[in-house]
Amino acid sequence: MRVVTIDGPAGAGKSTVARRLAERLGWRLLDTGAMYRAVTLAAMRRGVDLESDEALGALARGLTVRFETTTVLLNGDDISGEIRTVEVTQASGSIADKPSVRATLVHWQRSFAESHDTITEGRDQGTIVFPDALCKIYLTASPQERARRRLAEFVGKGVKITFESVLHDINARDCRDQAREIAPMRPATDAIEYDSTGLSFDEVVERLEATIRDACNRSNS
Ligand code: DC
Repeated sequence: MRVVTIDGPAGAGKSTVARRLAERLGWRLLDTGAMYRAVTLAAMRRGVDLESDEALGALARGLTVRFETTTVLLNGDDISGEIRTVEVTQASGSIADKPSVRATLVHWQRSFAESHDTITEGRDQGTIVFPDALCKIYLTASPQERARRRLAEFVGKGVKITFESVLHDINARDCRDQAREIAPMRPATDAIEYDSTGLSFDEVVERLEATIRDACNRSNS
């Protein structure tokens, strides 16, 4: 099956862009951040020590995370809203640092892509999980632009938060994602880098769709 990876920092627009691309191409979307968030939520609900690699690994191995269009299911329950809270977002950084959790999720991610053409988005999809992907994209935008987009999402949901605190959170997450000992966030050596600062959503989707279709044509010929 064909795989296109979209990696990059928080707030670069990966999720919405990847979703639209998957619709346009008729491929399945894999939101790997939602998997880390689902494990985080399960750990918080069950009071598992968020610093214990062993306990978190055992927890992750016993969970089932599935996707149904825009819905994320944890052991059959819809957790789509709950995994987007500020608390889960903050705690997810610690869960994503744990080697046992990452090993399980990498396995889930590769299994998912065995049966479908897949657009997958995350931090390590092009570097670690799918080194032989058909096309690798690294999508970025300036921290200020990403903070502005995130703030607009929060305002849309009625959450009261300042631009400064969103920007602070974005910078902190960048540092953590880049400094992670295992699977740090960085572009794969063969990734195409796109900076979406100043571009509209439609412009980004159009450019990336052209890039992916081009890669598909080249692999067919
Ligand atoms: O993309 P996101 O904000 O939904 O990601 C949630 C958390 O999971 C965040 O701490 C980064 C981490 N993550 C990761 O380490 N590797 C991935 N492939 C995807 C997300």
